[in-house]
Amino acid sequence: MIGIFDSGVGGMTVARAIEHICPGYPLIYFGDIARTPYGSKSPETIIEYSRRNTDFLLNNGATLIVIACNSAASTAADALRSHYTVPVLDVISPATVKAAAVTKNQRIGVIGTRATVRSGVYTDRITALNAQCRVFSQACPLLVPLVEEGWLNKRETKMILRRYLSPIKRQQIDTLVLGCTHYPLLHKLIQPRIGKRVQLIDSSVEVARHVKEFLDKSPETNHKLSGQTTNSRFFVSDSTGPVRQLANRIFGRTIHLEKVDA
Ligand code: DGL
Repeated sequence: MIGIFDSGVGGMTVARAIEHICPGYPLIYFGDIARTPYGSKSPETIIEYSRRNTDFLLNNGATLIVIACNSAASTAADALRSHYTVPVLDVISPATVKAAAVTKNQRIGVIGTRATVRSGVYTDRITALNAQCRVFSQACPLLVPLVEEGWLNKRETKMILRRYLSPIKRQQIDTLVLGCTHYPLLHKLIQPRIGKRVQLIDSSVEVARHVKEFLDKSPETNHKLSGQTTNSRFFVSDSTGPVRQLANRIFGRTIHLEKVDA
């Protein structure tokens, strides 16, 4: 199974994109809702949680790990890669490749949680791909709770977005990376506020394309996964009530969330 983990159910934007772009591969998803949010936690804590999540996925049939959470990917990807032998893909690299490829004026914005922005990983990877690029990052800590509350079209959300986006808009970026699991749900609000000429890069779609490319190039992993007939399963680490609606909204259908002690 393709193992995907996130700090909560926001990472289902990644699971949905993988399901769409890699149909026929069973997924096993783990959302660590007992410990969310990761975006405000220290690197040590995020690494410890990420290891625990990976162990859960591997013990339950994953043969490939996708870190869907930008906060975990920016902080724990290297630690996971050196600790485990299975392939570990992360949500960040594919978005940086796309951003560096599409920008015309080499001015790229990145929005994410505090942990993601603090790590500087988007800036490092984009400038490693193209040293001419300038990256303008903005932490947007209020956006995750607004999305989780379902405030996707409220006046307050629009006001807060305008406030977060205006410093990077002033930098005349032509590309903006949505560097958090929850932000694809705000796509329609972000586009008019950052400007219609700015290309938005949805990291969930980019990582799903990367998973597809990886499977096409890795016959061994592909063989293990494509022979599986199991259904996709979605696990969370706390009671499912409050997040069920968000999970269903992301997938556009009813998702059966299973609570586990992990
Ligand atoms: N999944 C996190 C991310 O993509 C957002 C929620 C959190 O802070 O845990 O950064």
